[in-house]
Order: sequence, then structure tokens, then C-alpha cells
Amino acid sequence: MRRKPGPARRLKDPVQESASFDMTESRVALAGHPLHAMMVAFPITLAFCAFAADGLYWWTGDGFWPRVALWSTGVGFLVGVLAGLVGTLELLIVPGIRIRSASWNHFILAVMLLSLLGANWIIRLEDATAAVLPWGILMSMVTAGMTAITGWHGGKLVFDYQIGTQHNHRDPP
Ligand code: HEM
Repeated sequence: MRRKPGPARRLKDPVQESASFDMTESRVALAGHPLHAMMVAFPITLAFCAFAADGLYWWTGDGFWPRVALWSTGVGFLVGVLAGLVGTLELLIVPGIRIRSASWNHFILAVMLLSLLGANWIIRLEDATAAVLPWGILMSMVTAGMTAITGWHGGKLVFDYQIGTQHNHRDPP
């Protein structure tokens, strides 16, 4: 006979269990607001713009869209690298961020994403229009998916694990 899993047998998330841990406040910040969080909006938006532009070129054949995708991937990659450097600084200098394995998982996801974004830009440099079909749009699709995963995981760091946020050092009620 199979036993029903009791409360003690349920999986627990050790980080969420003690979310109010210390020393996770952002240090690379402007008036207390993390620079990384301000910068990641650009690569996230531009990665999706590139996918949309590739799709619109496939649909309309208008030579304007490959230029949009070229600039979106290029600027997205360069600002993404800057945001990544700021995030890496935060990861290395803030003890409460450095010690959490979730922060390092985010780092690994982000480096994979930046490599994809960079490759998606480089394949367009010689001939932006010829690069779209099929490889450009496929790269854009994978990059958009990877952006969603990395962005979601960044949000998990902040909203679930309180990484980069300030604490009032009181136990939750
Ligand atoms: C390459 C190395 C990266 C490292 C080490 C890193 C590290 C971090 C850290 C420590 C945080 C917590 C907030 C803070 O302290 O600033 C964070 C949040 C976040 N990261 Fe990254 N990150 C990297 C790259 C990226 C990239 C390329 C993206 C783009 C998808 C990204 C998306 C996010 C998002 C969306 C948040 C949540 C921001 C918020 O809502 O406040 N990260 N990251």
C-alpha cells in the first residue's frame, strides 16, 4: 500500500525557509536602487524586438526589419554585457549574494544568454537581410526563450530570495 506524503516528506526550499538572511543589500546602486535591475530592461526588450523584427521580415519581406534586428541584437548584446559586468561585481563583492547558489545559477544562465545574443548579432554583420532566414530567426527564437528564463530567474532572486534588497533585520511575524 502506498503512503500519502505527509508534511515532513514534502520538499522544502531552504532559501525560502529563511528568506530574511543578512548582507544581501545591493552595493552597485544609485540612491539604493540596483544598477543591474535598471540595465537588464534593455537586453530583455531588445532580444524580443529582434525576434519580432525577424518574424515581420518573414511575413512582409520589407528590408527595414532586418536592420531593426541587426541593431536590436547589437545594442541588446552590448548593454547586456555591461549589465552582466555590473551584476558580476555585485555577485563578487556582496557576501550574502556571493554565498547563495541561486546567484551563481543566474550567472551561468546569463553567460549562456549573452553568448547567444552575441552570436545572433555576429551572424548578421556581413549581410543582415540574408542572415534572417533561416538561422537568424531561429537564433532569435532561442535567444528570446533564454531571455525569458534568465529574466524570470533574476526576478526569483529578488522577489523570492530577497537578493539585492534591503532588510529591516527583524524576523517575519
Ligand atoms: C552575467 C552575469 C549576471 C550576474 C552575475 C547577475 C546577477 C544578478 C543579481 C545579483 C541580481 C539581484 C539584484 C541585484 O543585486 O542587482 C540580479 C537580478 C536580475 N537579473 Fe541578473 N545578473 C547577470 C546577468 C543578467 C542578464 C544578462 C539578464 C537579462 C536577462 C539578467 C536579468 C536579471 C533580472 C530581470 C533581475 C531582477 C531585477 C529586478 O526585478 O529587480 N541578469 N542579477
